[in-house]
Amino acid sequence: MFIRILTVSFVLLGFSVQNAGAAGDQVSPPSQPWSFYNGPAGVFGYYDQASMQRGLKIYREVCASCHSLKRVYFRNLEALGYNEAQIKNIASEYTVVDGPNDEGDMFDRPGKPSDKFVSPFANDNAAKYANNGAFPPDLSLITKARAKGPDYLYALLTGYAQPPAGEHVSGGQHWNTYFPGHKLSMAPPLSDGQVSYEDGSPETLDQYARDITHFLAWAADPYMEERKKTGLKVLIFLLVFAGVMYSVKKKVWKGAH
Ligand code: HEC
Repeated sequence: MFIRILTVSFVLLGFSVQNAGAAGDQVSPPSQPWSFYNGPAGVFGYYDQASMQRGLKIYREVCASCHSLKRVYFRNLEALGYNEAQIKNIASEYTVVDGPNDEGDMFDRPGKPSDKFVSPFANDNAAKYANNGAFPPDLSLITKARAKGPDYLYALLTGYAQPPAGEHVSGGQHWNTYFPGHKLSMAPPLSDGQVSYEDGSPETLDQYARDITHFLAWAADPYMEERKKTGLKVLIFLLVFAGVMYSVKKKVWKGAH
């Protein structure tokens, strides 16, 4: 009986999850071959530093004019392969409001590695006002905040299209295949040739979308690699331990009937 109830509830749960996906006219984004999902259940996943460095460049040159990245500190950029001097250099290109000083005034100073990324707007209202009332969300956790986050972000950035016949998009809105409801207040932020790459990677919308997604996937889950390494070690330990226990058991019970 209990098993039956359990089965029925799982089936119902399955249905409601499916329906939630269908609500709001959402198209599921195709899966992409991310290196951080490598291996069965992603156990061999790793971040590609070159891709993240290019993604950072895209964030700084394109997305940062509208979207904040409040949870990332400049010192965290070590994970992208930058050394201390390079990080200091990147931080110092930003102006940070600090204070109050001894006289009670706030003051501007160059950024330091211990600072966070500086937000483009003073507050949420200013951000909305500058974007026709639509709020550009903080990007620190965006790949966690959406279902199939990295696939969704890549699909969103490459998914702008002409609205199908019969659909009308009002001023300031844009048709996107993957945005729930399809009408989005963000103009296509990326296009071929927009950002220059120094490492010879293709300067295409496709590559840009992959790189910014890689960078933001890291920002949302910076400890993924450590976690997977620890998980793998624990798994190996448990396997070895199980083997040892099995041979002990065989020895202890040898000859017993
Ligand atoms: C000119 C300002 C502007 C720029 C530049 C910009 N965005 Fe946006 N973005 C917005 C606004 C406004 C919204 C909110 C749209 C809405 O809710 O209709 C938004 C929404 C988003 C969303 C949320 C979509 C969702 O599912 O809710 C993501 C993700 C996003 N932007 C990523 C990016 C990335 C990545 C870049 C850089 C490549 C970028 N944006 C550049 C203004 C901008």
